[in-house]
Amino acid sequence: MSVVGFSCSSFVVVIAVLVMVLNGVEVCYGGKTSQFLRKVEKTVDMPLDSDVFAVPPGFNAPQQVHITQGDHEGKAVIVSWITPDKPGSNEVLYWTEKSKQKKLAFGKVYTYKFYNYTSGYIHHCTIKNLKYNTKYYYEVGIGYSPRTFWFVTPPEVGPDVPYTFGIIGDLGQSFDSNVTLTHYERNPHNGKTVLFVGDLSYADNYPFHDNVRWDTWGRFTERSTAYQPWIWTAGNHEIDFVPEIGETEPFKPFTNRYHVPYKASESTAPFWYSIKRGPAYIIVLASYSAYGKYTPQYEWLEAELPKVNRNETPWLLVLVHSPWYNSYNYHYMEGETMRVMYESWFVRYKVDVVFAGHVHAYERSERISNIAYNIVNGHCNPVKDQSAPVYITIGDGGNLEGLATNMTEPQPAYSAYREASFGHGIFDIKNRTHAYFSWNRNQDGYAVEADALWFFNRYWHPVDESLNEQK
Ligand SMILES: *[C@@H]1O[C@H](CO)[C@@H](O)[C@H](O)[C@H]1NC(C)=O
Ligand SMILES: *[C@@H]1O[C@H](CO)[C@@H](O)[C@H](O)[C@H]1NC(C)=O
Ligand SMILES: *[C@@H]1O[C@H](CO)[C@@H](O)[C@H](O)[C@H]1NC(C)=O
Ligand SMILES: *[C@@H]1O[C@H](CO)[C@@H](O)[C@H](O)[C@H]1NC(C)=O
Ligand SMILES: [Fe+2]
Repeated sequence: MSVVGFSCSSFVVVIAVLVMVLNGVEVCYGGKTSQFLRKVEKTVDMPLDSDVFAVPPGFNAPQQVHITQGDHEGKAVIVSWITPDKPGSNEVLYWTEKSKQKKLAFGKVYTYKFYNYTSGYIHHCTIKNLKYNTKYYYEVGIGYSPRTFWFVTPPEVGPDVPYTFGIIGDLGQSFDSNVTLTHYERNPHNGKTVLFVGDLSYADNYPFHDNVRWDTWGRFTERSTAYQPWIWTAGNHEIDFVPEIGETEPFKPFTNRYHVPYKASESTAPFWYSIKRGPAYIIVLASYSAYGKYTPQYEWLEAELPKVNRNETPWLLVLVHSPWYNSYNYHYMEGETMRVMYESWFVRYKVDVVFAGHVHAYERSERISNIAYNIVNGHCNPVKDQSAPVYITIGDGGNLEGLATNMTEPQPAYSAYREASFGHGIFDIKNRTHAYFSWNRNQDGYAVEADALWFFNRYWHPVDESLNEQK
């Protein structure tokens, strides 16, 4: 067992060792750097014959079933699944819990090749005009070995409907990934939709980006993704750009397997888009698509932000893979160029929270901005700003590259809490003014919150939350 984490000074080391015994935290210049004891061994991917990768029984049985929101308001669902042997039926049969009348929706089937890998038959089918707040059953694989799943639609978009999101990033398919998913499933706060901040399968860590590991990831996550929507963000491990073996089309496996409703928000590419879900307006951005001035993503975001009506959706959340504020010595400043482009908009439009992944650890920022600099005035430090979002890095899902344990010292003032443990988050919106955020580390019991904070809405109740916090 070893202790990971670095101290402000050698004097603090002595205190930290004492505090550690009580499993506490050390106070630095910025915020808290948790001294939680954890294992530092490299994470290991689950072997191909693991229980979580088992192929469902029956000829041509649908596998890797996953759902995501299928429109802008939450009245449609995209159902996706893969059949291994034959295309089979493209239809989804669906019905509500209360009604016996079954309806059919028709989808499309896709296949792709990646070097010497050929995908199964990837089906995507959008079910439309669903009722809000309703449990639906659905059946896929009609004709051979059908399987039935269910989901619950969100409440109608509106300012005072409570709704709970789970937050997971950089999941991968290691033993730790399985622990993270299990903790998420058993968390008593009970997320209804996952906001996934990118880096799904890590298949690209295998020789020739062995796409078999995309299939195992789809089967591993099915136990959650078939029953609640996961809102997808593209990470660097989705790029799969390998010109050495002739694979020059970026994001090919990801875009074939995971469809998103980008057209519903007038986006022109599946890497940046928005949805409304209950009380939340969620904007997904792309760290790995062009975002400079005049680019499609820039023009889209510029037109998008004024459309957010906080009377309708009080909570404005942004998902992006590469964090803008990060005090680990991993991927440090990688998000900087995007921050320079968009941060002033986030302050102007009072974004509540930005969730990012990429760094394999957890960190929560203060409300800060750094938008005064104009090259000559020297104003280049983050300052406290109650119109600014809180930045949460949560790339701690459990992928095989291991934890980011090396932090910048001293902890910068913008960093409120940081800890190099695997875990997941819950963003529990209560009403238009209050949301409760908690972060759970994998080493604890299912109900233990390692970090938690009441969020006050930036539009309806822009009070400084940090005054609430016990430092
Ligand atoms: C693909 O090529 C690699 C390297 O030549 C080889 O190890 C692997 O078995 C091949 N896979 C398939 C499905 O042919
Ligand atoms: C994954 O976690 C589940 C519990 O949620 C457990 O049943 C299963 O055996 C685990 N599999 C592996 C390979 O760790
Ligand atoms: C932590 O990161 C810094 C900056 O990259 C590096 O100089 C230092 O050697 C690293 N420390 C460890 C223990 O890896
Ligand atoms: C909003 O939720 C918070 C936390 O549950 C509660 O304290 C507050 O009274 C609620 N506000 C309204 C207007 O219901
Ligand atoms: Fe990443």
